[in-house]
Amino acid sequence: MEVTLLDELRGCEAWLPTLSLVAEGPGGEVVGHVVCTRGHIGTTPALGLGPIGVHPGHQGRGTGSALMHTALGAADALGEPLVALLGEPAYYRRFGFRTSTEYGITPPDPAWGEYFQVRTLAAYDPEDPALRGVFTYAEPFDRV
Ligand SMILES: CC(C)(COP(=O)(O)OP(=O)(O)OC[C@H]1O[C@@H](n2cnc3c(N)ncnc32)[C@H](O)[C@@H]1OP(=O)(O)O)[C@@H](O)C(=O)NCCC(=O)NCCS
Repeated sequence: MEVTLLDELRGCEAWLPTLSLVAEGPGGEVVGHVVCTRGHIGTTPALGLGPIGVHPGHQGRGTGSALMHTALGAADALGEPLVALLGEPAYYRRFGFRTSTEYGITPPDPAWGEYFQVRTLAAYDPEDPALRGVFTYAEPFDRV
């Protein structure tokens, strides 16, 4: 499912090459990846993070954390205001993600509740009304 999603994302305008990152093993093989694609809050551009994944044989060694910190650092350097994702709060809290509604951002599906989270970056302005409202992912996510 994630492979199909990634293929469809690669083929659409939401794909951001600078925010598609991989981790390599000792033989140069890919052991983990993360991607951020162009989403929106209303009509304001924002980032959706995911999928993120580490090969089962390589989990628990900090690769996922390194990929996440790298993606957040790159997004910050690119002047993006925030990153949104759907995932387990117990894992993503450590990277500064908080329930999206704390920032006035509504999940694409209200049933996602606390699993839809936002990490703000340096360019985020809490007073900016354009950064509040419903988040929408790139179109291929609608077919997942
Ligand atoms: C989630 C994932 C990317 C983390 O990658 P990783 O390289 O194992 O991560 P790290 O080594 O940096 O961190 C491991 C820590 O994350 C924790 N963790 C992993 N998945 C978790 C989850 N779903 N909920 C809570 N904690 C989780 C581990 O318990 C470990 O905790 P510790 O640091 O207290 O020991 C990886 O486990 C994975 O690919 N999982 C399957 C796919 C997936 O769930 N993707 C996320 C979709 S939202």
